[in-house]
Amino acid sequence: MAKMEVKTSLLDDMIGVGDMVLLEPLNEDSFINNLKKRFDHNEVYTYIGSVVISINPYSSLPIYTPEKVEEYRNRNFYELSPHIFALSDEAYRSLRDQDKDQCILITGESGAGKTEASKLVMSYVAAVCGKGAEVNQVKEQLLQSNPVLEAFGNAKTVRNDNSSRFGKYMDIEFDFKGDPLGGVISNYLLEKSRVVKQPRGERNFHIFYQILSGASEDFLCKLKLERDFSRYNYLGLDSAKVNGVDDAANFRTVRNAMQIVGFMDHETQSVFEVVAAVLKLGNIEFKPESRVNGLDESKIKDKNEVKEICELTGIDQSVLERAFSFRTVEAKQEKVSTTLNVAQAYYARDALAKNLYSRLFSWLVTRINESIKAQTKVRKKVMGVLDIYGFEIFEVRPNSFEQFIINYCNEKLQQIFIELTLKEEQEEYIREGIEWTHIEYFNNAIICDLIENNQTGILAMLDEECLRPGTVTDETFLEKLNQVCATHQHFESRMSKCSRFLNDTSLPHSCFRIQHYAGKVMYQVEGFVDKNNDLLYRDLSQAMWKASHSLIKALFPEGNPAKINLKRPPTAGSQFKASVATLMKNLQTKNPNYIRCIKPNDKKAAHIFNDALVCHQIRYLGLLENVRVRRAGYAFRQAYEPCLERYKMLCKQTWPHWRGPARDGVEVLFNELEIPEEEFSFGRSKIFIRNPRTLFKLEDLRKQRLEDLATLIEKIYRGWKCRTRFLLMKKSQIVIASWYRRYSQQKKYQKIKSSAIIVQSYIRGWKARKLLWELKHQKRCNEAATIIAAYWHGTQVRREYRKFFRANAGRKIYEFTLQRLMQKYFLEMKNKMPSLSPIDKNWPARPYLFLDSTHKELKRIFHLWRCKKYRDQFTDQQKLIYEEKLEASELFKDKKALYPASVGQPFQGAYLEISKNPKYKKLKDAVDEKIIIAEVVNKINRANGKATSRIFLLTKNNVLLADQKSGNIKSEVPLGDVTKVSMSSQNDGFFAVHLKEGSEAAGKGDFLLSSDHLIEMATKLYRTTLSQTKQKLNIEISDEFLVQFRQDKVCVKFIQGSQKNGNIPTCKRKNNRLLEVAVP
Ligand SMILES: Nc1ncnc2c1ncn2[C@@H]1O[C@H](COP(=O)(O)OP(=O)(O)OP(=O)(O)O)[C@@H](O)[C@H]1O
Ligand SMILES: [Mg+2]
Repeated sequence: MAKMEVKTSLLDDMIGVGDMVLLEPLNEDSFINNLKKRFDHNEVYTYIGSVVISINPYSSLPIYTPEKVEEYRNRNFYELSPHIFALSDEAYRSLRDQDKDQCILITGESGAGKTEASKLVMSYVAAVCGKGAEVNQVKEQLLQSNPVLEAFGNAKTVRNDNSSRFGKYMDIEFDFKGDPLGGVISNYLLEKSRVVKQPRGERNFHIFYQILSGASEDFLCKLKLERDFSRYNYLGLDSAKVNGVDDAANFRTVRNAMQIVGFMDHETQSVFEVVAAVLKLGNIEFKPESRVNGLDESKIKDKNEVKEICELTGIDQSVLERAFSFRTVEAKQEKVSTTLNVAQAYYARDALAKNLYSRLFSWLVTRINESIKAQTKVRKKVMGVLDIYGFEIFEVRPNSFEQFIINYCNEKLQQIFIELTLKEEQEEYIREGIEWTHIEYFNNAIICDLIENNQTGILAMLDEECLRPGTVTDETFLEKLNQVCATHQHFESRMSKCSRFLNDTSLPHSCFRIQHYAGKVMYQVEGFVDKNNDLLYRDLSQAMWKASHSLIKALFPEGNPAKINLKRPPTAGSQFKASVATLMKNLQTKNPNYIRCIKPNDKKAAHIFNDALVCHQIRYLGLLENVRVRRAGYAFRQAYEPCLERYKMLCKQTWPHWRGPARDGVEVLFNELEIPEEEFSFGRSKIFIRNPRTLFKLEDLRKQRLEDLATLIEKIYRGWKCRTRFLLMKKSQIVIASWYRRYSQQKKYQKIKSSAIIVQSYIRGWKARKLLWELKHQKRCNEAATIIAAYWHGTQVRREYRKFFRANAGRKIYEFTLQRLMQKYFLEMKNKMPSLSPIDKNWPARPYLFLDSTHKELKRIFHLWRCKKYRDQFTDQQKLIYEEKLEASELFKDKKALYPASVGQPFQGAYLEISKNPKYKKLKDAVDEKIIIAEVVNKINRANGKATSRIFLLTKNNVLLADQKSGNIKSEVPLGDVTKVSMSSQNDGFFAVHLKEGSEAAGKGDFLLSSDHLIEMATKLYRTTLSQTKQKLNIEISDEFLVQFRQDKVCVKFIQGSQKNGNIPTCKRKNNRLLEVAVP
């Protein structure tokens, strides 16, 4: 849809005529008027078929914006108003989609806008082709090569403030997708004479002014330059500043561009050093000095400049000085050195400067090519853009060798234009089998021949003259021309044999004139020979080769003595001819697209249209002829398929589909549209339409039809949209209605339901309230009855108990107080409890007297309790020991004086270790019961009272006495035979064991023994007897008791004895009846 919204096309509101082929009537005036009309409305582009005429607006127009790029992108050529973008788009698409290499030939005179046009084409292609980091870098490098080359190769001239002083052809290479891969730039003949001398009102190349204005002080100092333009002889002073040009800013742009293109810092530095050296060369001046041989020799006036140049370039100063003073000519074996006079020295200086600069420029192009060359080896599609110096005729100053060369190049371009458009066009008709009446046009091949013919051409003459031995001057060259070219139709000279010009005073004797296709140009022969020779003395090139500056050294390879070449280098003319021939060959292989630039005025001013100037350009560009050929032939052609595709909607049979060959479809279509037969022709593969009017009519019809179709589509779409909307609404209405009904019924039901609930609840509420009221009433009645009864009872009871109340109060208070006190007492006691040790005598003081007995009882209970706690910790063995001790206490406490001493002694029982001592083995074997006591005791002899040691053994059942030494058992008494044990109440260890009368052991009588462990022995004997016989052993404690010795009853009496024998008691038998024991 968007594509249909064409804002301005060739058919809409066109100012004048967009395509000159449509111009009626066609003549020079109407042609110019049409251009003028369009130019006045800022329409600077006009077509002649597919050729774009561009008029320099000299003001920036808003027609190159990104929006414009989008507008022209992928559109048919004639769909929008004429534009350079339309041509660029056509060329790019044809390259991308049809695989046809393209070239864009931009021609026109100086200042007509060729360079700008070439940049517009490049920027358009860059904008529409592929994107991506890599592609963008390639694009950026290609675009940035322009400012670099413009700085070094462009200069301000009287015609153009940014005039290209070299020819440039750039091949942009694309891959199969149409993404740019890289490029190759070819440069043609830089106008190097500008380096040393500029015509009035012109400048040297921009770069010199840019360096001096834009470089920092530091950088200038490094280059040994000063900012002042007037310091340099090579800089024309009268127009050093150009209005609207900021040299300093441009310098920054150039440096930035060099960086983007890929120049290393040291390379940039070297380039500027060479530029500085060139500038400084101009300041070297010479003075004459007479020599003895009468010849003049030149001497450098001020050697300072030479010194600085040598420092800058690393050349030995003496070498350079010598090169400016001598000239060495080598011929075969000879080497002749001659001195240079002042004029020759200046010539040498300028030749060096020119060579240095032009070689630097060529090096720059090579270096840029290195950076921008495509990195892949895949097949490339190529779009060439040719921006070459325009046709140049100077009216005021003489035209020289440069103009001759430039104009020759333009002749060749016109030739290729003729070849590729006029001739090619006519050939296409033949190829397609179209009937065709040949149109005559001026073919400039004859002029090209005049210049480039290998034998008789002007360039050949010039070369011949230059190479000829003997004196050769520009005059001899002119003479030669006069001889050879005199009869040529397009050659004019005063001196020629042809008398036609003998009296033509407008033609000076030193000039010749050529009738170029673009007009007559008069060339001044002066300088032709020199410029063609382009001579640089070998001494200078050798001096340059010796430089330590690597760039300068590389620029002069011929200076290498090892590579000395005695052959003359090819002349400038022949070099140029060869490169132009290569260019032409290259262009012929490509599909040409033409941009013909026209300059509207000489003042570089906007909005001024100089009819005469434009008329002149139209003439020499052959634009009218171009229109005529277009008109005589067929203005438009297109293959059948795309044609049918584009216009098939104009006929019912072909719309929407045509089944059959496309050609038949087109035929049906054209017949249906009643297009007059003379207006079109059927070729083999294409339809040819004679008049663009027919094409535009077709386009008009198509546009109309598209509108109708759009209306139809719109109608159907609207109908469909309305119907669908209606159906949707109907469906929605039913849905909504059903939902609504449901909703309203639901709502009604809810209302009835809630009403019923409300009514129900009111009734229930009323019933419940009624019941509640009744129940409450009943309850109140009950409560009232109870209260009344309670009050009544209360009154009764109070009346009855009032008399007791005071009597009881005292007792209650007392009991309460007592209870509180008890409580307090117990709580305090709890906190003051003494330790759990049974021997701890502490006990808190009694707080209240009335608790005295309680306090004591509590103390007793507490003590018993802690004793129990203490006992509970005892092991069985400990318990036994304490039981024995307890038994001993019960038996002997307060009865026997020996007892207190025994309390602290542990009861060991087996003081003799019978089982361990081998001495008592026999004894041990004889006693097989458990031994309770094993001790050595003293047995008192019954007869004399003397003591003998005996082993005393107590077993479970027996008491045994054995010999202490042998261990032989002396007596054995069963416990049952022991009737009593007697002892004194004193501090002695004597005791008597009384035996049962008549028992076996009682034969000798009772035993009287003495032991150190009496208390223990007696206790154990008592306990063992009790456990064995269940009878308590009688223990008699008395200081006089009777014992049975055989038949005698003897009294054992304990008396108080002396302490003669220490503390040991002594025993003595006094008589039959008495045994006395003296206890100390
Ligand atoms: N399309 C344009 N829009 C605005 N200004 C333009 C346009 N084309 C050219 N100019 C102006 O005209 C000047 C000269 O244009 P340009 O340098 O392209 O001429 P040229 O044909 O290359 O000349 P020469 O042969 O001397 O190199 C430009 O510097 C610019 O100011
Ligand atoms: Mg230019």
